[in-house]
Amino acid sequence: MNLRSGRLNKKMTTGAAEYTSSLDSDRYLFDSDVKCNFAHVLMLKNENIIDEDIADKILEALTKLREEGFESLDFNRSVEDIHMAVENYVTDMVGSNVAGFMHTAKSRNDQVATDIRLTLREKIIEVQLGILKFIEKLVQKAEEHKDIVTVGYTHLQHAQPITIAHSFMAYAQSLKRDYERLSDTYKRVNQNPLGSAAMTTTSFPINRELTTKLLGFNTYLENSMDGVSARDFISETVFDLSTLTTTLSKICEELVLWSTYEFDVIEMSDEFSSTSSIMPQKKNPDVAEVARAKSAVINGELVTIMTILKAIPYTYNRDLQEITPHLWNSVEIAYETLKIVSEMTLSISVNKNRCLELAGANFATVTDLADVMVRERKIPFRTAHKIVGRIVNLSIEMDLDIGDIDSRFVDGIVNDLGFDKLELPTDLIQKSLDPIENVKMRQVPGGPSPEMVQLACNNMKNFLKEEFDKKE
Ligand code: ARG
Repeated sequence: MNLRSGRLNKKMTTGAAEYTSSLDSDRYLFDSDVKCNFAHVLMLKNENIIDEDIADKILEALTKLREEGFESLDFNRSVEDIHMAVENYVTDMVGSNVAGFMHTAKSRNDQVATDIRLTLREKIIEVQLGILKFIEKLVQKAEEHKDIVTVGYTHLQHAQPITIAHSFMAYAQSLKRDYERLSDTYKRVNQNPLGSAAMTTTSFPINRELTTKLLGFNTYLENSMDGVSARDFISETVFDLSTLTTTLSKICEELVLWSTYEFDVIEMSDEFSSTSSIMPQKKNPDVAEVARAKSAVINGELVTIMTILKAIPYTYNRDLQEITPHLWNSVEIAYETLKIVSEMTLSISVNKNRCLELAGANFATVTDLADVMVRERKIPFRTAHKIVGRIVNLSIEMDLDIGDIDSRFVDGIVNDLGFDKLELPTDLIQKSLDPIENVKMRQVPGGPSPEMVQLACNNMKNFLKEEFDKKE
């Protein structure tokens, strides 16, 4: 089938043909294109739009093509894209008098939109399953690290004690939203443009409900102009993927920091590290670094897609073809980054002693001393904040540690600031400054105490079960 033998007198130059061809990335569409043709021809047969024996011959050729696979297509002729290559295959098999009916009431414009949606549905589910598996393992790891207290940061300065489990569950919650975002997008991907034809549907009495059902779409797109030109399902998906890899990049960034000599909170597994060609002592977190950088590529792809889309008039324009490779690139990068980052994260080991040391250092527990003053002596929190701030200030000046803060020291400062003495017992003060106690006291849902983290783990396990069941 050579489309050029009718309207056009001259062949396209090789340069122009190569420049405008989409074949390189159309391999992603092969299975979907065969499926799409199959459903369309079955519908044409069912509605008596083409003869039964013609339809059967085409369907047989498509079945054979599905078995033989992408490699059996002939790309040597002047084929613009996968759709022409598939039609050529069928023509070679059953002759043009039969194969020529296959394109009745269909255009490559609705076909390509349908194909992309079919392939993307599967890719979204693959990524989503990857996310669920990562979350599942994070929950397991959290349960194993519920009692490992360390320090949490704001502004990358010591803030308050947390547990390693709480941190893992923070990753899990973020990934859960990334998963849910994809579920939401999936609803809009799962809509059928087939039947829109070039842009105005067709005068043949096609049955759009039937192709929608055969291709497993939820519904069909109700406007044919929208059907062939809409690609917001692509930008939306790539946004979701870029948000997912941003989560992964953030995890990587944290693990890179935590694995430094200065933090010394975790050790990366050798299997996800490399060394230096000159400095023999080096253990570098290269996997995390590359993942951090690759996530930037998806952000770039998103901007590329949005920029192509923003100035295209209705309806189909060939520009749309240039969007699809950026989609597949984003899907590939997101999937491989998800896989490697989850393996790397799960293989870290945690330095328990260092964690506790950090949690007890640098006055990370003193918010609770202020809380104790409010609870025990009914003074306003702002007053307590001022007193404790002064306690820290003076302790640093006098080179004292939290272990040195006792009742006398506190009341000396209280006095200096012009407040009534608090007379808090030293053991109460010391208890409030203990990082393990600090974490235990946070019995509020969403908090780091082992009970609350277990609650969060249980809720997450219920979510995982429900979602795994849906995907089976
Ligand atoms: N290869 C095209 C694309 O990916 C699909 C075919 C529509 N081509 C056309 N010239 N109307 O968008």
